[in-house]
Amino acid sequence: MRAGGPGDHDGSVIDRIERLSTDDLPACLALAENREWLPEAHKWRLLFAVGTVYGLRDEAGDVVATAILTRYGTRLAAISMVLVASRYGRRGLGGRLMTHLLDEAGDATVFLNATPYGRPLYERLGFVPIGTTHTHVGRLEPTGPAATRPAVPGDLAMLLALDARVNGADRSHVLRTLPDFAECVRVVERRGIVSGYAAAWRNVDNVVIGPVIAADAADARALIGDIAATIDGPVRLDLDGRHPELRRWAAGRGVPEWGSTTVMVYGAPELPGDRDRWFVPLMQALG
Ligand SMILES: CC(C)(COP(=O)(O)OP(=O)(O)OC[C@H]1O[C@@H](n2cnc3c(N)ncnc32)[C@H](O)[C@@H]1OP(=O)(O)O)[C@@H](O)C(=O)NCCC(=O)NCCS
Repeated sequence: MRAGGPGDHDGSVIDRIERLSTDDLPACLALAENREWLPEAHKWRLLFAVGTVYGLRDEAGDVVATAILTRYGTRLAAISMVLVASRYGRRGLGGRLMTHLLDEAGDATVFLNATPYGRPLYERLGFVPIGTTHTHVGRLEPTGPAATRPAVPGDLAMLLALDARVNGADRSHVLRTLPDFAECVRVVERRGIVSGYAAAWRNVDNVVIGPVIAADAADARALIGDIAATIDGPVRLDLDGRHPELRRWAAGRGVPEWGSTTVMVYGAPELPGDRDRWFVPLMQALG
């Protein structure tokens, strides 16, 4: 990539949408920074591993647009990291990439978290808003004695089955990365049954707690509190709007709302699964 980055010149864009590889990671991070997103290398590496990263280049070979499709079987898929270098904005690149990804997704229900920049484009393509993700950031005050325990390899089968029920799709190729990707994974176990789990992973300027899947809000609080107690520094929680009581609890304990995005779905009126037990995504890019 040229030293100046993707936003500093005005050439023409090569017509072909291509699959990017981890060789392109530095270019993707530069593109993200061009749009004032953080250079989240750890997160992009996971997305390269579990999804397909599509991109467009200009004639100089710079990556000037990206979008990632992560499939959960044939019925559900997530789209993320939809980015177009500011210099190339409003020329139809975002729309072309999105149309390509929707074709690739076939009959799957596709979801994403939309920023205000992306939302009009997604609406034009047929996505409908179904909810809000509230991002909270801060240092969580201590919550009391631990009510959950660290996950052990023997929990994996139950954890995968629980996650599949709640998400309505098999996400095992993503969850199998958690022992390496995450800093910790904890579970709620009652009478030998894993009824909830949560993980935390390090991002650029905080530790993201997610996913959080739990039988009820009390168990979600226990998982979040026990994980936060192991973390030195600010945590990020992308709290699903279906659970306002959890947002009030987080805000009241030093983790206020910082921003929000719109959850949008294409190809179905709702997300599959048992979303009452779905409190926090692994990350917005993956649900
Ligand atoms: C959101 C984003 C990806 C859109 O990319 P883009 O390439 O500008 O998207 P498009 O050009 O396909 O569409 C954007 C607008 O330009 C218009 N447009 C497209 N081609 C055009 C042309 N040749 N002339 C004039 N307008 C045009 C579209 O109609 C669309 O209008 P609308 O927003 O009123 O519906 C880009 O703004 C971006 O990277 N934003 C920052 C990161 C971000 O928020 N990403 C979304 C994450 S959910």
